[in-house]
Order: sequence, then C-alpha cells, then structure tokens
Amino acid sequence: MTAAPATDPTADPADSALVRAARRLPVERTPVWFMRQAGRSLPEYREVRQGVAMLDSCMRPDLVAEITMQPVRRHGVDAAIFFSDIVVPLKAVGVDLDIVPGVGPVVAEPVRRWADLDRIPELTPEHVPYITEAVRLLVAELGPTPLIGFAGAPFTLASYLVEGGPSKNHEHTKALMHGDPALWEALCGRLAQISGAFLRVQALAGASVVQLFDSWVGALQRSDYSRFVLPHSRTALAAVADLDVPRIHFGVGTGELLALMGSAGADVVGVDYRVELTDAVERLGPGFAVQGNLDPALLFAPWEPLAARVEEIVRAGRSAPGHIFNLGHGVLPSTDPDVLTRVVEHVHAISSQ
Ligand code: CP3
Repeated sequence: MTAAPATDPTADPADSALVRAARRLPVERTPVWFMRQAGRSLPEYREVRQGVAMLDSCMRPDLVAEITMQPVRRHGVDAAIFFSDIVVPLKAVGVDLDIVPGVGPVVAEPVRRWADLDRIPELTPEHVPYITEAVRLLVAELGPTPLIGFAGAPFTLASYLVEGGPSKNHEHTKALMHGDPALWEALCGRLAQISGAFLRVQALAGASVVQLFDSWVGALQRSDYSRFVLPHSRTALAAVADLDVPRIHFGVGTGELLALMGSAGADVVGVDYRVELTDAVERLGPGFAVQGNLDPALLFAPWEPLAARVEEIVRAGRSAPGHIFNLGHGVLPSTDPDVLTRVVEHVHAISSQ
C-alpha cells in the first residue's frame, strides 16, 4: 500500500508520509517540516502576535490554530507542529513563570528544595482545556496533514525550573542532581508525569505524532544521562505508548548520547546538525527512523551549497529505515522564509525521483 497523496482532502493523516516514515514504512517522497517553523521568521506571525504576550497566545485556541497553520499554508510542509511552548504545562499547573521576549522562560522562584516541589502539582486534562480545544480545531482544519504534538522532557524542564531561566552551564541543575539525588528523582518524576500527561492530552485530541524535546540534554555525559535522565524520559514517552501515535525524541548536542536516547522508547530520533546522519544511524543501531538535520545557519548561505547539503542529507537519510527531513535545531528568527519554502520543494523534488 502506498500513501494517499497529500492533496486528497479526505485522506487520513495516519497514512501521511510523515507518519509512514516514522513507522519505517515506504514513502513516495521524504516528508519535511522544521522545528520552530511557526514563529518570528514569518511576517504573518509577527502581525498576529502584536500586543499579545507569548503565554497568552498559547492559551487562545483561535490564535494557536492560526499560528500553527501559517507555515503549513506558506511552505507546504508535511506536518504542522502545535503552537505552544514546553513551559505551558508548568504554567498550567500553577508555576509562576513567564516567557520573556528575546530571553526565554523565566521562573519567579527557582526550584532547589523539597518544599519547592509543592508548587508543581501533577497535570490533569482539566488544567489544559484550551490545548484540547486548539488540537481539535487544528485536526479539523488540517485534514490529511498530520499534527505533531510536543512536550519538553524532564531534564530540559528541570533546567529551567532549577536555574530560574535559560542557562549556559546548567550549574545549579547539575549541583542538585549530584548533591541531592533523591530530590532530583522526585522533581524529575513529577516532570515526567507532567510531560507525559501533556503529550497524552494532545494525542487524545487528535495529534498524529508526538515529539519529546530534550533540548539541553547534550550538556550531560553518558553516565549522568543514564542514571539521572533516561528513566524519566522513558516514563514521559511511555505515557502515550498505548495510543497509536509514533514518538520522536530530540535534543541538541547529543552526538555522544544518541544510542542511549534511542532506548527511551521513541520510534524516531531527532539528530542535531553536528552529527552526520549516517553516523547517527550507525550509533542508533537498526530499527530507528531519524529526523534531521540541516544546520539552521546554512539557510543563510547561497542556494548552491545549501541545495548540495540538502541533497547530501536526503541521501544519507536513505541509510535509515525511515527519514523525516528537518533542521538540526530550530529556525532562527531572521531566516528568510522563502528559503524554507525552497528547501521544502527541493526535498520533495529530489526524494521522489
Ligand atoms: O514552530 C514550532 O516549533 C512550534 C512552537 C514551539 C515554541 N517553543 C514556540 C515559541 C516549540 C516546539 C517550542 C519548544 C521549546 N520552547 C523548546 C524546545 C525546542 C528547542 O528550540 O530546543 C525550548 C527549549 C523552549 C523554551 C523557549 N521558549 C525558548 C528558548 C524561547 C525563545 C526565546 C526567544 O525569544 O528567543 C521560547 C519562546 C518561544 N517559544 C517563542 C516561540 C515562537 C518566541 C517568542 C515570541 O515569538 O514572542
């Protein structure tokens, strides 16, 4: 059976190229989407966000649906990624935090002691009715195009909570991990519940795929990752294991961790741009689809070398049983959106030959 063409408005997103690639089934052409495809690179995004704070926009289903659709309409990507943020579920359970423009998530009172855990209750679907509503709106509007739901993984969420904001060195996080392993376990256990429940809400409302972002986990060495992080990422991913949605797991700077990340339970491992895709496939071992991994900075290079790199990545992707073309991290805000559209067209053209 081959996938129905994406132009058939009645086709099931579960038969889309993206879902098929994630399941390691044959596809007619390589599916492509971009992390951070919705956002500041698009003038239509900047326009609708005017005067609306980031977190407020994530709680308005009409706005979430519009922003999620923008890159699908403009670029013809093979998937939509739900417009939200990894800290939305933390805000939803009552953690006092904000997303500061140009900075990122900032937490009012960092989490460093046992008593601080009381401020992070478990997430239930009743905390996030606007997520269910926005996913439902989107699934109806997207038709055959799959929607990717997502959550932040326990380590990356813990880093924001423990540091109090974005961090280069994650020193307070590592100090807590090693200084009070029992508190670290309790914190990450709580965060794994929140992450998993947030993924589950999106999948139950109709998302076709989920991605667990462990963006900053590349800061760890393998032994710390195995002991302090992997079990919690596994718990988060296991929360949707009984639902029929493929799972993607991604982090930045994870060359050393890829094989371990593969054991967290995902079908697809997202590969950072620093690692050759063929090396990633070798490190993961058989059975995994891969996602990636164009360097987002190369979108600023002239077309010729950029196109050559896109071709290399599509070729390298054939060494895996499934490949989803993406960047090796998110779209940079000053990226020319026309270049992204051209990359989508190029991936489709060269992979369908
Ligand atoms: O298009 C998409 O990818 C969907 C939307 C999305 C956002 N955040 C919207 C957003 C996704 C998937 C995320 C996940 C996210 N948020 C991650 C994991 C992915 C990654 O990039 O590694 C992380 C680490 C965060 C935390 C966070 N939130 C950061 C680092 C920032 C950027 C700060 C800045 O202003 O440069 C945010 C804010 C944020 N999340 C923006 C967007 C579009 C920018 C805010 C704005 O437009 O006002």
